[in-house]
Amino acid sequence: MAGGASTPELVAAVSEAGGLGFLAAGYKTAAQVRADIDRTRALTGRPFGVNLFLPSTDVVDQVAVAAYRERLLPEAARLGVEPGDAGDRTDDWHAKVADLLADPPAVVSFTFGCPDDEVVGEFRARGVVVVVTVTTPEEARLASAADVLCVQGGEAGAHRGSFTNTDARGVPIRTLLPQVRAVTDRPLIAAGGLATAGHVAEVLALGAVAAQAGTAFLRAPESGASDLHKRALADPRYTETAMTRAFSGRPARGLVNRFLAEHSASAPAAYPDVHYLTSPLRKAATAQDDPGGVNLWAGASWRLATDRPAAEIVARLEDYVQVP
Ligand SMILES: Cc1cc2nc3c(=O)[nH]c(=O)nc-3n(C[C@H](O)[C@H](O)[C@H](O)COP(=O)(O)O)c2cc1C
Repeated sequence: MAGGASTPELVAAVSEAGGLGFLAAGYKTAAQVRADIDRTRALTGRPFGVNLFLPSTDVVDQVAVAAYRERLLPEAARLGVEPGDAGDRTDDWHAKVADLLADPPAVVSFTFGCPDDEVVGEFRARGVVVVVTVTTPEEARLASAADVLCVQGGEAGAHRGSFTNTDARGVPIRTLLPQVRAVTDRPLIAAGGLATAGHVAEVLALGAVAAQAGTAFLRAPESGASDLHKRALADPRYTETAMTRAFSGRPARGLVNRFLAEHSASAPAAYPDVHYLTSPLRKAATAQDDPGGVNLWAGASWRLATDRPAAEIVARLEDYVQVP
């Protein structure tokens, strides 16, 4: 979980509890990711994974981005900041891949696309398990070089991991999983709105070998999600989640708050351009404890997230194995 939630402490706690924790490389430099790996290795000797974003392939309408910037000016002025400038479009991809190949984790996973065969082959040659996130059967076919596919349903919190910045609505995991099963023989990890042992049992029955949960861990003490985010997830005044490009320029699911409601319809398909534009606004709103101005990422089962330690959350999700 990029953006701060996946701390080394959370990753280590999940792996120690018998799960497979994932460090997020997204939005970080290669050096920051290496520091996180070192810290995680100091906390656990168990395997864990590292997740990378593919570089953006968006062909961006700069006029639309400029118009969105104009639209955000009053919001920025209220917070006492300026919209941010454009930044790196590759998310430090080449440096991260080189660094991970030099000293790899047990598993690497990729989101927003499938790396080329050479990169996949280099990881596999080092004994690293390669996972690619897919959101449609077509993407599953394109990711045939991967060892394992992570099938992400439309219920998932935060960014939709689709290969392109698509308008298509996400397909629910229980519908999508059998569709992907039908086009590939790769092992499948299911993701999206999975928050109970019953949910895990369901996706295993539908052909997955594992379940992946994000939102279920956001409120855990080991999670690095902001206090404001953790409080919002427990706040009964939030009553729904929705997909929006308002914060980053790519569809992502979050609690419906003021910013999402006011700006979703105007946000262009421009990633990471919009991410950089809104970055100072999101930081300032967090500092000013204004949950209405922040991306409150949440999957459809957010109400089931608890503030219990990560090990307990893993144990609850795994409880289905004790049912005869
Ligand atoms: C706060 C947050 C950040 C996320 N960041 C990433 C990420 O960096 N890379 C990724 O592949 N998926 C990311 N995801 C999506 C998860 O991998 C997964 O698909 C999703 O959490 C599953 O749905 P759930 O949140 O309902 O459990 C993130 C999810 C959340 C909630």
